[in-house]
Amino acid sequence: MTKAFTIAIDGPAASGKGTLARRLAEHYGFHHLDTGLTYRAVARTMLDQALPLNDEAVAEAIALSVSLNHLDRNVLAAHDVGEAASKIAVMPAVRRALVKAQQNFAQTLPGTVLDGRDIGTVVCPDAPVKLYVTASPETRAERRYQEILSKGGQAVYDDVLSDLKLRDERDMGRSDSPLRPASDAHLLDTTKMDIETAFLAAQKLIDAALARH
Ligand code: C5P
Repeated sequence: MTKAFTIAIDGPAASGKGTLARRLAEHYGFHHLDTGLTYRAVARTMLDQALPLNDEAVAEAIALSVSLNHLDRNVLAAHDVGEAASKIAVMPAVRRALVKAQQNFAQTLPGTVLDGRDIGTVVCPDAPVKLYVTASPETRAERRYQEILSKGGQAVYDDVLSDLKLRDERDMGRSDSPLRPASDAHLLDTTKMDIETAFLAAQKLIDAALARH
């Protein structure tokens, strides 16, 4: 292969897209980028330095200096970091800087898996395979709730659900690169589908696209 093969995965928070992306990257020996971490890294730096989250010029400067090499979901998982990430993610200058870095990453041979909110629509519009992973808000909230409990944390299900709905609204309602499926994306609804079934469905689509590549 002389041109990297890219798998673009989008979907709302806790839809299962991250798990699917990691499994696919491992299966195909491709490089994986969880693009949510790039927004979280900017947000975390701003929170750590107590910078105002509405200062676009400052957020842009931080976005331009983010390194994709040391992004760790464990370090960036905190709830307030996710909230702050979705606030700075509405800023066009921040998106421009991060999208450029993500597009460079997408060209890594032999192939890449990128997951996020705008991969199929903005970051990699020419990706040969685009998946849009979704699930009902209640299912996603239940997953997030169980995940918090399994890590020894505490949460109230109703709060988790209302937070997710708020995050969906912000991600789907912003004017720059809102979360939506690309017109040529394959929809995978994981409400009643386990990860293994989603993985097998994705694998079928990817194998067919690889044969054409
Ligand atoms: O996926 P994750 O929850 O870590 O993403 C945090 C926030 O970053 C999202 O709520 C969204 O606002 C933003 N994001 C984005 N575009 C992406 C990935 C994440 O706007 N490609």
